[in-house]
Amino acid sequence: SPMREFLQGLPKCEHHIHLEGSLEPELIFELAARHGITLPDDPVYTSVETLKKRYEHFSNLDDFLHFYFEGMAVLREEQDFADLAWAYFQKAHADGVHHAEVFFDPQVHESRGVAYNTIVDGFTKGCKRAESELGLSTKLILCFVRHLPVASAQELYDEMVAHKSFENGTVHGLGWSSSEVGPPKDMFRDIYASAAKKNIPLTAHAGEEGDPTYISTALELGARRIDHGIRLIEDEELMQRVAREGILLTVCPLSNVRLRCVKSVKEVPIRKFLEAGVKFSINSDDPAYFGGYILDNYYAVQEAHNLNVLEWKIIAENSVQESWIEDSRKAEIL
Ligand code: ADE
Ligand code: ZN
Repeated sequence: SPMREFLQGLPKCEHHIHLEGSLEPELIFELAARHGITLPDDPVYTSVETLKKRYEHFSNLDDFLHFYFEGMAVLREEQDFADLAWAYFQKAHADGVHHAEVFFDPQVHESRGVAYNTIVDGFTKGCKRAESELGLSTKLILCFVRHLPVASAQELYDEMVAHKSFENGTVHGLGWSSSEVGPPKDMFRDIYASAAKKNIPLTAHAGEEGDPTYISTALELGARRIDHGIRLIEDEELMQRVAREGILLTVCPLSNVRLRCVKSVKEVPIRKFLEAGVKFSINSDDPAYFGGYILDNYYAVQEAHNLNVLEWKIIAENSVQESWIEDSRKAEIL
């Protein structure tokens, strides 16, 4: 359709995609076969089709995370991580993405015995290939997961510092993700304080299932971007602060529907954010699990909210301007 072509052609950046969330069922079966891994003893793993069917009815974030963590267990060797990243970047490029900031969850792989370097070097290899063959720019954002003990995150942080991953440019920023409601809101306080001192860019998943106090806590700990953040509309004062301070929300409409944070894309507060002057980008989160990559998310927003060309230009331009890249790179993309 003409509208989809227009959205495809808009220069876009993606800020909220978990590389492990781009692991398609086909690749799960392929990697399991390659490594002789027995998939979990659950009838949903009968075939690609039964697995895809199960992905169509998650009941909430934790129900999804169960399958997300099971699926990523087929990633073992450096090349697996490289292949996964490369598959995602090809799709992003086809959707008109010029720059992608991508999350990954090392703690979960390390808990299965995969070494830090296997993960980071593999993903870096995929990033380098996207840069040279597709002209994309990329940044890796390492995520701490909230369902494991803080000590596990601290160990990973120490490992990252020992490897000088930030200084050598392989890890550009830090985030947190996984279960929102339950663990202490400020569990990564010490890690974020240490990272802030090193000027490492910080983001955090907040206000997806959790109320706005999860967002204010993330900001208090030093996050300068909020992943999801849709529940911000429940706190008018905080919303005005986020607008005033130019904090970007990385909104993921199809994810919000699949994880039942909203009933439909119409309920994602796109208009409220535009009216309040809250900057946001539109992203895919876990495209292999939620039925669509970034362009599907842009298109779903168009179908639900019927934005005009000017509004779309503002949204896409904000996604470029708020990326963690040099001004010279922004100018190239725009
Ligand atoms: N990890 C992968 N996707 C996530 C999401 N939508 N929320 C929290 N953690 C995640
Ligand atoms: Zn996410």
